[in-house]
Amino acid sequence: MVSGSQSSFYGTVQIKGSFATRNADKGRRVYGERLVKTDDFEYRLWDPHRSKLCGAMKKGLKTFPFKYGSKILYLGASTGTTISHLSDIIGDEGELYAVEIAPQCMKSLISLSERRNNIIPIHADARHPEEYVDVGKVEIIYMDVAQPDQDEILIKNAKEFLQKDGIAFFCVKSQSIDVTKEPQVVFDQVIKKLEPHFEVLEKIKLEPFDKDHLFLALRFLA
Ligand SMILES: C[S@@+](CC[C@H](N)C(=O)[O-])C[C@H]1O[C@@H](n2cnc3c(N)ncnc32)[C@H](O)[C@@H]1O
Repeated sequence: MVSGSQSSFYGTVQIKGSFATRNADKGRRVYGERLVKTDDFEYRLWDPHRSKLCGAMKKGLKTFPFKYGSKILYLGASTGTTISHLSDIIGDEGELYAVEIAPQCMKSLISLSERRNNIIPIHADARHPEEYVDVGKVEIIYMDVAQPDQDEILIKNAKEFLQKDGIAFFCVKSQSIDVTKEPQVVFDQVIKKLEPHFEVLEKIKLEPFDKDHLFLALRFLA
């Protein structure tokens, strides 16, 4: 039996140098992660090579608004790797709207949502927020769609759903935007486009976990 120590990130502990969340679906793994039992609970180790949010935490992220009961819109849910840890953190009172365009990812996401009540899967293109207006206002948007127009997608969704002073996390993949330009040039262009709408709180390069990725924490100015 091991013991976890406190972490500065709400709803997480540190176990042998890894972040971990308390497993809301005891005995089950989501993406092959390690399960660790402590005296009282079971934890899932959070892999920074598989989740950019965890990579950013490892690289010193300070902005962490996730808490019990948070309402989150997540764009680019994939099969639910990062989502599963957020689901552990926000608990039964939380709501995690998970937008994904790829039908094969949706299958995994739907089966995940059947075991975790706070995940609401939405099969849609994040370019068309009008298709999921029922989501209503959220406190946090997490965006990881790896598309050339990802900055415009974020702005559109923030205008529709994000409350004033709400927080957006944005994973910028320079290769998806322009392979011919240096990553820093691409990052600077993206930030310039975001600045009329957001205050940039943090910029974190995700190496060594993800190459040519910038993780942004933003406050919505509305
Ligand atoms: C890099 S993966 C996301 C990984 C995920 N955020 C995680 O940490 O577990 C990008 C995902 O965005 C999805 N995607 C791409 N374009 C999209 C769009 N326009 N609307 C919704 N999802 C999109 C892809 O199908 C893919 O599953």
